[in-house]
Amino acid sequence: MRLDVITIFPEYLEPLNVSLVGKARARGQLDVGVHDLRAWTHDRHHTVDDTPYGGGPGMVMKPEPWGEALDAVIDAGRDAGQAQPPVIIVPTPSGRPFTQEQAADLSARPWLVFTPARYEGIDRRVIEEYSARYEVRELSIGDYVLAGGEAPVLVMAEAIVRLLPGVLGNAESHRDDSFAAGAMADLLEGPVYTKPPAWRDRTVPGVLVGGHHGKIARWRRDQALARTAAHRPDLIRRCDPATLDQHDLRTLAELGWTLTDEGRFGRAAPRVEE
Ligand code: ADE
Repeated sequence: MRLDVITIFPEYLEPLNVSLVGKARARGQLDVGVHDLRAWTHDRHHTVDDTPYGGGPGMVMKPEPWGEALDAVIDAGRDAGQAQPPVIIVPTPSGRPFTQEQAADLSARPWLVFTPARYEGIDRRVIEEYSARYEVRELSIGDYVLAGGEAPVLVMAEAIVRLLPGVLGNAESHRDDSFAAGAMADLLEGPVYTKPPAWRDRTVPGVLVGGHHGKIARWRRDQALARTAAHRPDLIRRCDPATLDQHDLRTLAELGWTLTDEGRFGRAAPRVEE
């Protein structure tokens, strides 16, 4: 996979040199290019922003440097051997949610170009222009506003790169991730433990040291259901009951969740004592 980032703060992307992403680069599983947007300005002050048409607070990123930068970075990637066009990813709080599904889909693309913005965002014509020629995805990492898109690029890059074949040591280790597709789909991962068996008088749950794989799997699933019900009741409401077994239904019933007439889960109203 090739990953390009165009930014006015190249140093913000230094973490792409360390840990999982850094190792993937060192092993040749990933090529990363970080490019300074100001290299494509032509005035003495390397200006990348201007006041918004129509008035209002803040500044807007000018279209010309972005256009030149995107053209140059895409040409260079092609010259370096990229046969397919890139997916251009524009981090913005007004984008579609970046989810595990997005991460999985993007991890199958050979080339991603990120365009993190500062200020109030990029002149809309840039997104229109490149959407006409490439696949452009405007993505938000959550319902909060950051000062710029660089931290979201780090978040998305890590979520995507860890899904590349051979990047995680144990090929199984993202199978049970919260939000991974499959048996535990849309359930949060439960608690985990390691040695020693007792720490500050706290012992590891007995089932985990009992060696009974079926019981361990069942316990983990119950923990995942309980944690999801407590932290993300929206996921329980959305859950398709057909994906659950009888034991799951019992566990959820014990947690106060029952099937409604519409065939979805709802919380049983607490009984009011007379
Ligand atoms: N830029 C600023 N806030 C953001 C967010 N929540 N997601 C993606 N890009 C952003």
